[in-house]
Amino acid sequence: MVMKTPTICSILFAFLVLFSCSWTVSSDGQQDFLQCLSLQSKDHTSISNIIYTPENSSYSSILNFSIQNLRFASETTPKPLVIITPVNEYQIQPVIYCAKENGMQIRIRSGGHDLEGLSNTSEEPFFILDLVNLREINIDVEKKTAWVQAGARLGELYYRIAEKSRTLGFPSGVCPTVGAGGHISGGGFGTLFRKYGLAADNVIDSRIIDVNGRILDRKSMGEDLFWAIRGGGGASFGVILAWKLQLVDVPEKVTLFTISRTVEQNATNIVHRWQYIAHKFDKDLLVVVYIRRVNSSQDGRRTIQASFQSLFLGGVDRLLPLMHQSFPDLGLKREDCTEMSWIESNLYIYGLPVEPLDVLLNRTQANKRYVKEKSDYVQKPISKNGLEGIWKRFFEEEAEEAQLVFNPYGGRMDEISESAIPFPHRAGNLYKINYAVYWDEEEASERYINWIRRLYSYMAPYVTKFPRATYVNYRDLDIGVNNKGNTSYAQASIWGLKYFKNNFNKLVHVKTKVDPSNFFRNEQSIPPLYSMWTKNGK
Ligand SMILES: Cc1cc2nc3c(=O)[nH]c(=O)nc-3n(C[C@H](O)[C@H](O)[C@H](O)COP(=O)(O)OP(=O)(O)OC[C@H]3O[C@@H](n4cnc5c(N)ncnc54)[C@H](O)[C@@H]3O)c2cc1C
Ligand SMILES: *[C@@H]1O[C@H](CO)[C@@H](O)[C@H](O)[C@H]1NC(C)=O
Ligand SMILES: *[C@@H]1O[C@H](CO)[C@@H](O)[C@H](O)[C@H]1NC(C)=O
Ligand SMILES: *[C@@H]1O[C@H](CO)[C@@H](O)[C@H](O)[C@H]1NC(C)=O
Ligand SMILES: *[C@@H]1O[C@H](CO)[C@@H](O)[C@H](O)[C@H]1NC(C)=O
Ligand SMILES: *[C@@H]1O[C@H](CO)[C@@H](O)[C@H](O)[C@H]1NC(C)=O
Ligand SMILES: *[C@@H]1O[C@H](CO)[C@@H](O)[C@H](O)[C@H]1NC(C)=O
Ligand SMILES: *[C@@H]1O[C@H](CO)[C@@H](O)[C@H](O)[C@H]1NC(C)=O
Repeated sequence: MVMKTPTICSILFAFLVLFSCSWTVSSDGQQDFLQCLSLQSKDHTSISNIIYTPENSSYSSILNFSIQNLRFASETTPKPLVIITPVNEYQIQPVIYCAKENGMQIRIRSGGHDLEGLSNTSEEPFFILDLVNLREINIDVEKKTAWVQAGARLGELYYRIAEKSRTLGFPSGVCPTVGAGGHISGGGFGTLFRKYGLAADNVIDSRIIDVNGRILDRKSMGEDLFWAIRGGGGASFGVILAWKLQLVDVPEKVTLFTISRTVEQNATNIVHRWQYIAHKFDKDLLVVVYIRRVNSSQDGRRTIQASFQSLFLGGVDRLLPLMHQSFPDLGLKREDCTEMSWIESNLYIYGLPVEPLDVLLNRTQANKRYVKEKSDYVQKPISKNGLEGIWKRFFEEEAEEAQLVFNPYGGRMDEISESAIPFPHRAGNLYKINYAVYWDEEEASERYINWIRRLYSYMAPYVTKFPRATYVNYRDLDIGVNNKGNTSYAQASIWGLKYFKNNFNKLVHVKTKVDPSNFFRNEQSIPPLYSMWTKNGK
């Protein structure tokens, strides 16, 4: 969970400095690409309505709309030669063909939340295929399934489910503006993951366009490719058009609470204890820990606070005895608890009022900032000394708005095998750590990024090793990147084994089969096997 602070998605004040498009990017590649598109497209007028170049006045606002992290919005960030916003699947086929013909690098964007900006920038001349308009959602309540197009956001999905049923949900992430395309491609976890697993564990069919422009579904793509796209990370295998999801049952009422303790209020001991038990809790009970620096409410002095935030799939009457038995240290009382529907809990956790629900349909990310994130997995409880070392780093200046989130594993996550889908982080993990640091001035970026890197090095002895496992949806280019052009298998396995462990090899085999020329590539895309022995891959 996921419960990021309200600051991430809440209030938008992103109309910063209006920058004029004084520069124009142009190249022969771009002209040839555009010409090819107009020749290949059956309906010339409709294709020109979805193509933006820097000469179009709305280019910059289309570009920015799904940019979620200001680190990649600066004037020095390489900009696309063209942005294409298809309104149907068939407009994408000529795009793939013409891009290949003209050596244009593609960046696919659904929600634009990629934490390293890979969906909208590249060092090679590139265009963005922006799926912002492919956002249809069809719910079948009887069969408990949904078809969701890649450009739909999670908030829209939850809203459309709730319109039809308050006792159905889907186990994906909390931030309502995250896109279905990227999120589900990398796994996707949220408030229901201890009960039902990841979003990708609950995909039952998909539509994808491959490198040859063919539209495939589960049957025609075959089980290997269908396996690879459910957790192998977006952008390596083709353009995901839509997912068919298995919806899950949620009770009419869920219960939420947040209990915060500073170190003066025994936080260190309680967090220490939490590590031994949270992964063993009933599957209906998720207790996530947030670590932040705060000003003490007693004397205003800086201190470290642990917030225990819970979503329980049931009413308060069942939760209280469960908590008293499983985690008495927290001293949970009835008045700490709030009951609501699952759909409302999505807003509540995000720090928004639970009414009106249609806030979930708002695709504009509030309060865009500079962000850097990392992640780790913990398999042995961290000692109290170890925890105190983290607190110490939170007293540094750069940590003013930093946050750690400890997400307990166990439950359904333990029951699914490591190779069921490419996402390998299953039994044996006590919890996942998500590190995040936020800031507001571009000039300060290096300081904040260095802070989070120092914390990450400090954590090395306490987390998984060989490989140091990491969650692909918290993309982190620090852990390794491909060589430019055709990377080598050896180079890619530096980061690949961390995200996918032993599943990396199978991902490489699938890639070799479906995209041998490595058309779909980025700094952390799965390489095809030929480059294992190409010299230019180094
Ligand atoms: C504020 C915030 C909150 C988050 N909360 C959660 C959470 O609760 N749980 C969780 O698991 N993760 C969470 N994440 C991480 C999130 O799941 C990933 O960033 C995810 O990749 C975003 O998907 P997107 O479509 O929005 O992003 P994009 O930037 O559009 O895409 C991400 C990657 O997938 C590729 N891609 C996108 N669409 C397609 C497509 N249709 N076909 C092929 N490739 C595609 C892109 O090229 C890019 O490489 C959060 C991230 C942020 C910034
Ligand atoms: C959507 O959210 C943004 C950011 O919070 C806000 O500025 C905007 O007014 C909202 N739009 C609507 C239609 O509510
Ligand atoms: C897009 O974002 C950049 C960087 O934040 C900003 O300078 C520019 O004004 C934005 N453009 C629009 C149209 O919002
Ligand atoms: C962008 O400009 C070109 C050239 O003027 C025009 O043909 C095209 O229709 C414009 N695109 C959009 C989406 O308006
Ligand atoms: C790329 O995406 C990131 C994160 O989504 C965003 O911050 C950045 O501004 C984008 N870059 C460009 C060139 O649009
Ligand atoms: C502090 O927490 C520990 C572990 O949860 C507990 O055993 C201990 O009794 C608590 N101490 C106080 C003073 O509350
Ligand atoms: C905490 O106190 C400091 C110094 O008094 C202040 O600058 C800061 O804004 C406060 N932080 C919060 C979250 O209130
Ligand atoms: C990568 O190798 C393939 C196959 O040899 C070739 O078709 C392609 O052009 C190469 N791409 C780059 C960027 O070098």
